[in-house]
Amino acid sequence: MSRIAYVNGRYVPHANAAVHIEDRGYQFADGVYEVIAVRDGVLVDRLPHLKRLARSLGELAIDAPMSDAALSHIFAEIVRRNRVRDGMVYLQITRGQAPRDHAWSRGLRPAVVVTARSTKGPPAGVVAEGASVVSMPDLRWKRCDIKTISLLGNVMAKQAARDKGAFEALMVDADGRVTEGSSTNVWIVTAKGVLVTRPADEAILDGITRRAVIALARAAGLRFTERAFTLREARAAAEMFLTSTTAFVVPVVKLDGKALGAGKPGRFTRRLLADYRAYVAAAAKAQDA
Ligand code: PDD
Repeated sequence: MSRIAYVNGRYVPHANAAVHIEDRGYQFADGVYEVIAVRDGVLVDRLPHLKRLARSLGELAIDAPMSDAALSHIFAEIVRRNRVRDGMVYLQITRGQAPRDHAWSRGLRPAVVVTARSTKGPPAGVVAEGASVVSMPDLRWKRCDIKTISLLGNVMAKQAARDKGAFEALMVDADGRVTEGSSTNVWIVTAKGVLVTRPADEAILDGITRRAVIALARAAGLRFTERAFTLREARAAAEMFLTSTTAFVVPVVKLDGKALGAGKPGRFTRRLLADYRAYVAAAAKAQDA
């Protein structure tokens, strides 16, 4: 079956889907995006994703191209047309097309692209046995809270990690504190059994999965605190895991080539992974009803 993409008002064969070479997304990475998981044909946490999208657009002064209802209709249509049960929807909105100039003129028409595809999530072995991560300096700009398509720092970090055989890069700021993964949020459990993740400041993306896991940790009565932690503290952690829309909850068992904690997925991590899976399954069921 051939894939279908939504591009500026039209559903077109994926193979022919294209935007203009003077789209500011292509010229300047001047745009934003969202990735939303699809489970049992239902979009997981659609509303929080739409809310974060609106915030990203607002921070960059890009006009919302359409209402949330209209966008949601396209999501449903693209999922249906591509027959996705389990996978993801990708949405990209750029400032629009204009002759190349760093400054933009008002009244540009934002370009909208939506695609969907079936995905399997992270490899089962990585989830069951745990992933390895490598630390590296965070070379990105100072507004990582905006979900912009300008991802060169993330791309370079991920590739450097993969080149070293690691699943993810652990990015570290100038003060030695962990910011986030190249496409994930980072969590540790201290030796004293406290779950820690960095507050959603301008150095990280406020992950939708991160928010859901915070709520689950609270509901489970786990000891939890939102604060920045150093790479040194991470090395001494009892557990570490990553969260994202596409990865869900991935245990980390190796940091910079050394075993982390007991060297296998920990108790908190396994609990939160199970709780998150149950949360997603329940959300899919509720929306189906
Ligand atoms: N990445 N931090 C960064 C830098 C990310 O790119 C992502 C998501 C996250 C986790 O956010 P969420 O839980 O909302 O997915 C944190 C997406 C999945 C991507 O770029 O493919």
